[in-house]
Parts: sequence; structure tokens; C-alpha cells
Amino acid sequence: MNHLLQQIENYKQEINNCAITNADEVEAFRIKYLGTKGIVKSIMGFMKDVPNEQKKEAGQLLNEFKLFVEAKYESLKAVSSNNQDNTSTIDITLPGSPTLVGSRHPINLVRNKIVSIFQRLGFAIAEGPEIEDDWHNFGAMNLPEDHPARDMQDTFYIHQNPAWLLRTHTSSVQARVMENQKPPIRVICPGRVYRNETISARAHCFFHQVEGLYIDEKVSFADLKQTLYFFVQEMFGKDVKVRFRPSYFPFTEPSAEMDISCLICNNNGCNVCKHTGWVEILGSGMVHPKVLENFGIDSNKYTGFAFGMGVERICQLKYRVNDLRLYSQNDVRFLKQFTSVV
Ligand code: PHE
Repeated sequence: MNHLLQQIENYKQEINNCAITNADEVEAFRIKYLGTKGIVKSIMGFMKDVPNEQKKEAGQLLNEFKLFVEAKYESLKAVSSNNQDNTSTIDITLPGSPTLVGSRHPINLVRNKIVSIFQRLGFAIAEGPEIEDDWHNFGAMNLPEDHPARDMQDTFYIHQNPAWLLRTHTSSVQARVMENQKPPIRVICPGRVYRNETISARAHCFFHQVEGLYIDEKVSFADLKQTLYFFVQEMFGKDVKVRFRPSYFPFTEPSAEMDISCLICNNNGCNVCKHTGWVEILGSGMVHPKVLENFGIDSNKYTGFAFGMGVERICQLKYRVNDLRLYSQNDVRFLKQFTSVV
């Protein structure tokens, strides 16, 4: 019994003097004293040698020792976890690795902005196929075969069936709307279009358009002008000036191109506006009666206006992007600059 007492005393001293700082040493302490082959277990083994009349006292002693070791272990654990910064290779104070959030493509940002302006005026979105037939893209839009105006919009044809082509404008969607709906019609048609052009800074074999169509009784050219004027003010600010120039499109009569004052040089002349102070942003006009009749719409009762703009051009003026190819090269150094909502 005395021997047991002595041993416990020695271990207590050893424990009190031990210098432990890190988690590995704490674990070694646990294994040494509290492990299955540890000191506490082995001392417990002495109990069987203790005479019966001393068993109670010895049991108490051993139990106290066990509690003492356990308490010490808990306090060492707490100290070592506070010291972790010095000892562990993991720095828990470092910020986590950020989740990369992409940004919207500038074409989508600008398209969404255009669409939302016209939605506020009551225009609904209409979509249609990019692979079209000749009728919806050309014929119905008053561009019969052999018509020289087809040269303005040369496109790509599908080998297996030359009656199919890649649409050159989203006027083909207007055709599909007129085919399926009765006036009043008020739609905008955003989408990708294709033209057979050599790729350069100013031309590409595909680009994006938003076209619009409004058909009802008594729709006039004044409505067209006011609608488009509202659009440019919302898009570019109240100071922007507009002008209309007579133009020609087979599907509208009269037709006009709309220019806005050059935002880059403030109407003073620069290479974007070719030193005129004005940049063209869209084509427009009153829907040709023949187009209405193609879809069984009575042109004596109904009139309408239509317009079409290139999203890339609006984007160029909004963000000063001067090379069309940048939009489709997927260079993140270009794309990541467009994080804001327009
Ligand atoms: N569809 C014409 C184009 O691509 C644009 C336009 C639409 C012009 C509607 C007038 C009216 O290029």
C-alpha cells in the first residue's frame, strides 16, 4: 500500500513538471497515462495485490489519481489548441479561398437592357429559329428571289436542303408572329443573326439584333419616332440627340435610319463617327402594306412600324468597344471588365 502511495506521488510530480505545448505532445501524454496500456491502467492492476481491509482506501486513492490525470489532460488540450498558431501548419485566420463569380457577357447585359426598356412600353418578347426557311427570312418580308436587296444580307445555306438558311435578321421572327397572331401586335425580337461577311473589326459572320414590331389601328410615323426617342434616352441619357435619315428597306415604306449624336466625341467628330458627329444605330420604317397582306392583315385597317438594331453597335457606344471580334474570342481579360449592370 505504501509502495502504491509512493508511486502515485511520483507520477503526480512528474505530471506537474511536464512541459507540454503542442497537440502531438498532448496525445503522447494521453497514450502514456490514459491509454489502454497506460500508467493509470497498470496502477489499477495493483489493486488485486492490496489486502482486503485496505482495498477501500486504495480504491479511493487510485480513483483520485485517475481524476487528476484526466483533469490535467483536459487542461493540456485546451492550452495546446490556443497555441495552435505557432505549431500547426494550418493558419485558421487566413481568409478562405474565394468562389469565383463570373460576369455577364456584355452582349447579354446590353440586350437585357434594350429588352427591358421596350418591355416597359408594353412590348412582349418573341423568339424564333436561327435556321429559317427562305419565306420567313426573305420572301414574306417583300424580298422575292432575284431581288437585288437580297445582296445586302447574303447568308449561309444548308447543304442538305438549300431551302434552309441561317437567318440574316430577326425580322423572320416578326414574320412568324404576324403568321400566328392577330393585331394589335407589339413584340421585340432579340436574337443571333448570320451574314456571309469577311470577319474584321467592323464585320462578323454573326451578330445580335433586337428588332421590334408594332401593328394596330392608327399607328403612325410619329409613334415610331417617339418610341425610338424614348429608347435612346433611356439607353444613353437625356442629352443624346437623334436624327432620322431617309433609307430603303424592302419591308418598310417609308424607311429611315436613325442616328444619335456621337457619345464618344460629343458630336464634335472622331473616328467612331467618321468625323460627322453622328452614329447610325438602327433601321426603321412603317411596315410595307405588302408584308401585312402576306399575313392576311388588312392594310387599310391596320398600320405598323418596325425597327431593328445591332446589339454590338449599342454595346460599342455604351462601352467603347471598337473591335467586334472581342465579343466572341472569350478572352477573360476582356469579359471580366463587365461586372456591372448597365
Ligand atoms: N431587318 C433590318 C436589318 O437587318 C432592320 C430593320 C428592321 C429595318 C425593321 C427596318 C425595319 O438589317
